Amino acid sequence: MIQAAATQQVLESQFTIRPMRWWDIPAVDAIEGDLFPHDRWSTDQWWRELAAPHNHYWVATVNAEIIGYCGLSVQTPDADVQTMAIGTPWQGRGHGKVVLNHLIESSKSFGVRFIFLEVRDDNAPAIALYEHAGFTRMSSRPAYYPDGGTALIFRRDDREANPEQ
Ligand SMILES: CC(C)(COP(=O)(O)OP(=O)(O)OC[C@H]1O[C@@H](n2cnc3c(N)ncnc32)[C@H](O)[C@@H]1OP(=O)(O)O)[C@@H](O)C(=O)NCCC(=O)NCCS
Repeated sequence: MIQAAATQQVLESQFTIRPMRWWDIPAVDAIEGDLFPHDRWSTDQWWRELAAPHNHYWVATVNAEIIGYCGLSVQTPDADVQTMAIGTPWQGRGHGKVVLNHLIESSKSFGVRFIFLEVRDDNAPAIALYEHAGFTRMSSRPAYYPDGGTALIFRRDDREANPEQ
């Protein structure tokens, strides 16, 4: 029941965050292709991601139109943010902040103590978003991306929400 509550969030009358289903793949794929033209996930990868039992994916919608998506891989006590994106026309309106908060609250409800994520070192908007949400930089991985780009590893500590038993 906790999981059901965490995966269905209605923020305004027309904005929702709901679990991603296989029939959402084409709409998500279109946003992915626009935002990540050089290292987009293939349709096959989306199917694999949705099929993995420890993965949780959601889409953000406005008036039923998919405007963004996010995903979490949970292997308690850790979770990894697999992806997170808001379509270009919808950016800068606060949706990213709400979607990230949804990931954090869902993660806590799964009993996670540490959330990890990777972000390109030149992705200033995403880095600012993560830092404002309480993620701290742990390390960097040079040449992590296919084009040689560096990844920064961030972590959020939620031990207070889920103390060690
Ligand atoms: C990163 C991303 C998800 C942010 O979503 P968004 O809806 O535009 O973000 P919001 O409007 O909710 O802004 C939230 C915070 O992000 C940061 N931010 C957003 N756009 C920014 C910009 N252009 N420059 C600097 N910081 C920015 C700010 O800290 C902002 O908080 P503030 O408004 O209180 O200053 C979105 O830009 C995106 O999808 N980018 C492409 C995909 C991507 O890079 N995903 C992350 C991969 S790790």
